[in-house]
Amino acid sequence: MAHKRIVLIIGGGIAAYKCLELIRRLRERGVGVRTVLTKAAQQFVTPLSVGALSNDLVLTDLFDLDDEREIGHIRLSREADLIVVAPATADLLARMAGGHANDLATAVLLATDKPVLVAPAMNPRMWSHPATRRNVALLAADGVRCVGPAAGEMAEAGEAGLGRLAEVPELLEAIEALLAEGAPKPVLPLTGRHVLVTSGPTHEPIDPVRYIANRSSGKQGYAIARAAAALGARVTLVAGPVTLPDPKGVTTVHVETAAQMLAAATAALPVELAVFAAAVADWRVVNAAGEKIKKQASGAPPALALAENPDILRTLAARGARRPRLVIGFAAETENVIEYAKKKRKSKGADWIVANDVSPETGIMGGDRNSVHLVTQQGVESWSEMDKDEVAMRLMQRAAEHLLANEAAAE
Ligand code: C5P
Repeated sequence: MAHKRIVLIIGGGIAAYKCLELIRRLRERGVGVRTVLTKAAQQFVTPLSVGALSNDLVLTDLFDLDDEREIGHIRLSREADLIVVAPATADLLARMAGGHANDLATAVLLATDKPVLVAPAMNPRMWSHPATRRNVALLAADGVRCVGPAAGEMAEAGEAGLGRLAEVPELLEAIEALLAEGAPKPVLPLTGRHVLVTSGPTHEPIDPVRYIANRSSGKQGYAIARAAAALGARVTLVAGPVTLPDPKGVTTVHVETAAQMLAAATAALPVELAVFAAAVADWRVVNAAGEKIKKQASGAPPALALAENPDILRTLAARGARRPRLVIGFAAETENVIEYAKKKRKSKGADWIVANDVSPETGIMGGDRNSVHLVTQQGVESWSEMDKDEVAMRLMQRAAEHLLANEAAAE
């Protein structure tokens, strides 16, 4: 929030004192606060106390507009990033909804082109009155944002209900969110890119209840999908059977078999970056039974006929117009990790291979941490052990840089 500036319009309500605390908290966060006190507000807080806390302009009525401080209501409203009205009384809301400009507060509100946040506070009956309901609805339709009111005891004895000014932390949160909304969004390094990730194991049915599987948890691939999305990419995640929640902001396609995974991955093309993190079963059962296989009286086990599954990585990495610009494969090995990875990179047509040792003693398969080697055309980089999320983020950042550098070289 630092270096932002808000205009705080304090309305005339008993809750106005909470604005003093709000100003302090905003100042602590580096936010500049210029204040406008309505005539009624001055019955509850003084310009002196407000000014001492805000260390900035405190304006009280339209006459201020022409004084030596030389700041008109137009400038005042335009120089702010956000206008906050707290407490917003029923009368102030009504005048805002009606487009009045008969004092400095409403003149500023009518002249602004900046977001406006109101924090209503009033007697519960005034809040529930149809006129106030109407005014609040009109203001919402005009794009005015609202925080609170909260329920609870009122200042008046024996009165309780909806009408208390939102508490300071809630006001701060709403202000923070609106200031962040207005800030220009940083351009993320994978913005505008489509990324495909395969993840998890595949299940190859033997019969309707049995299947061939492996120990892949899908954690690394899911982390890669999340990281790519966090870096701005549009992500399609093709996931085998796992128990992980679908990542937010990612299109997740659930599949079971290698054949389905290949079909879903192919359907996701074109993509600029493809990461094949799935532990695809090497074989499928060609004579899978339509009904559950029964034990034979003879004790003879069923003969399963296996066929090799399509290699999804190799298929999609094959040269052609639809080849992703960067193809990353994984190599999970239990010995000679780097040597196998180098061979795999070439034989599969991948650009990069992320190699890891999945011997049971490493705890990598199914675990949260990973220790990988990145094998590229240039050589091998061994990364220290880190969380799978961190591996994912580093890998996606490297991929983003690579795509950018390649584009620059092609120009
Ligand atoms: O199983 P393998 O060691 O060959 O896997 C290496 C890479 O190839 C991994 O990135 C894996 O996702 C991919 N792969 C694939 N389709 C297969 C087998 C492996 O995409 N059928």
